[in-house]
Parts: sequence; C-alpha cells; structure tokens
Amino acid sequence: MKFFSSLLAAGAMLAALPTAVFGQDDQIVFDAEHNQTSIVGTWATGSRQVQTGAGFANPSNVSFIYPNVTGVSYSFTSNEDGAWFEAARYRFKSNATRHNCITGVMLWMHGHYELNNNGSITLIPNGDGYQQIQAPCAAVTENFIEDYNGTELFSVWRIYLDPTDGYKLHLFEADGTPVAPMFQVSEQPQMLPLQRLRKTAKEQQEEEAAKANKRSVEEGGNGALARFDVVSGGLAIAGVMSLAALVL
Ligand SMILES: *[C@@H]1O[C@H](CO)[C@@H](O)[C@H](O)[C@H]1NC(C)=O
Ligand SMILES: *[C@@H]1O[C@H](CO)[C@@H](O)[C@H](O)[C@H]1NC(C)=O
Ligand SMILES: *[C@@H]1O[C@H](CO)[C@@H](O)[C@H](O)[C@H]1NC(C)=O
Ligand SMILES: *[C@@H]1O[C@H](CO)[C@@H](O)[C@H](O)[C@H]1NC(C)=O
Repeated sequence: MKFFSSLLAAGAMLAALPTAVFGQDDQIVFDAEHNQTSIVGTWATGSRQVQTGAGFANPSNVSFIYPNVTGVSYSFTSNEDGAWFEAARYRFKSNATRHNCITGVMLWMHGHYELNNNGSITLIPNGDGYQQIQAPCAAVTENFIEDYNGTELFSVWRIYLDPTDGYKLHLFEADGTPVAPMFQVSEQPQMLPLQRLRKTAKEQQEEEAAKANKRSVEEGGNGALARFDVVSGGLAIAGVMSLAALVL
C-alpha cells in the first residue's frame, strides 16, 4: 500500500532533482568555500523523512520500516570514530519502455568511507547490508530481500550554506549524476551500532548446513534431526520475507 501511495511523492522528488553538474574545473575539495562545514553528521533529502538509524532498518531481522515518501540519507562519523558511513535509501526506478512500471528499492548498508585526494569519496560496505526490491509489473510480481554489498564512489562532494535550509550536502555519482541535495539533520550522526550487525543469507545457510552435518555425524548417520534443522532454518528466512511483504 505504502509503495503505491508514495508514487506521487516520488514524482515530485524526481521533478525537483537538479540537472546541473559541476564542471571539470570544479575540483577544489577541502577548502572552506566549498565545504563549509564537516561532513560528519546525518544528512537527508527533501522532506527528511528517510533518515539513517534505527527508524529505517532493523538488520537483526532483515526488515525495513517503510517511510511515507522516497528519499536518501547518509551519515558519517569522524575519523576518531572510525570513519564509518551509513546509507538509507528508498527509491523508485522507472522503466524506460514501460512508463507505468516502477520498481521500488529500499536499501540499507554501512561501512567505512575514505575521502580521496582527488576529491572523491569511496564508501566501502561492511558486508551486512541488504535491499528489498518490489517490481509489481514484472511477469510475476516480484518482492524480495537480498544481501547488498556494493562499493560506491562519489566523484565530487560539496557542502554549501543555504540561507533558509542551513547546510546542504551535494554528492555526485561517478558518472556525474547528482544525488538530490541532502540537508543536515544533525551534527551528531544518528546511526545503528558501528559493527557487523547481521550474517549474510549465504553465511547463514553455510552455518545451518555445518550444524546439520555435525549433528548427523554425531548421531551415527541418522539424518532425521539434521534435516529438521535445515528445514526450520529455511522456514525462518522465508518467514521474515513474507512478514516483510505483509507490512507493505
Ligand atoms: C522494463 O520492462 C520490460 C518489459 O516488462 C522488461 O523486459 C525490462 O527488463 C524492464 N527494464 C527494467 C530496467 O526494469
Ligand atoms: C579518484 O580516486 C579514487 C580512489 O583512489 C579512484 O577510485 C577514482 O577512480 C579517482 N577518480 C578519478 C576521476 O581519477
Ligand atoms: C563487502 O565488500 C567489501 C568491499 O569490496 C569487501 O571487502 C567485503 O569482503 C565484502 N563483504 C562480503 C560479506 O561480501
Ligand atoms: C523486526 O523486529 C522489530 C523489532 O523487534 C519488530 O518491530 C518488527 O516487527 C520485526 N519485523 C519483522 C518483519 O519481523
């Protein structure tokens, strides 16, 4: 339900995306003129309803708390706190050939960031991120959650002081595509704990298989218990997914 009711909001956001891209000569990085405050803190687009932290993702059961509208949020800690980042995104992707088919993507990940000498930022995820894809127009309606661990490079970043909205962070993807400007929500980054927060689906499966194998050996080859374990492990994962689907 949320997915469809947010379509209008998404349209509004797309319309508000800036089209200008900074030129090649705009390479100044660490100076006060272009980066008027520290990147440390929490940043969020538009209505600021998508924000990193406990209000967006719950890695312990691989779920999301769906915001009312789409948006993007990033948080960054200082070097002293380990240079962690967290990303929270709720986006719609439209289909070039079928304009009425829009795929919704919820994504959460965290990890470490590096401010590179050429003015870019690299985000290196920690291996525990995940995303939910909803594609209502696919031949069979898709709705699934999967591990996500994609490194991201932003070629340029800028922080300006907006007279009404305060500090604004502009990120540009590696191909120059601008991310919608993000406003400073707080100077203190609001983030989930700075550590590995979940096992990937693959790791979980391997663990279940190893456990089942061990039991099967201990019971002298009687695999009944072991099989039960594997099945219940699989059901637990499927249960989380179908619950997540109900939330929509
Ligand atoms: C767009 O829709 C067509 C037809 O359903 C599908 O084959 C194609 O994969 C879709 N493209 C994207 C980028 O989702
Ligand atoms: C800037 O530096 C990063 C990190 O070393 C690198 O991945 C990226 O390709 C560089 N970008 C350009 C335009 O040289
Ligand atoms: C996630 O990606 C990073 C950077 O490429 C890599 O170092 C790490 O091993 C990956 N983790 C997993 C669980 O795939
Ligand atoms: C995940 O856990 C949170 C907190 O315990 C709970 O509120 C939420 O309903 C759970 N979500 C799913 C899909 O199980």
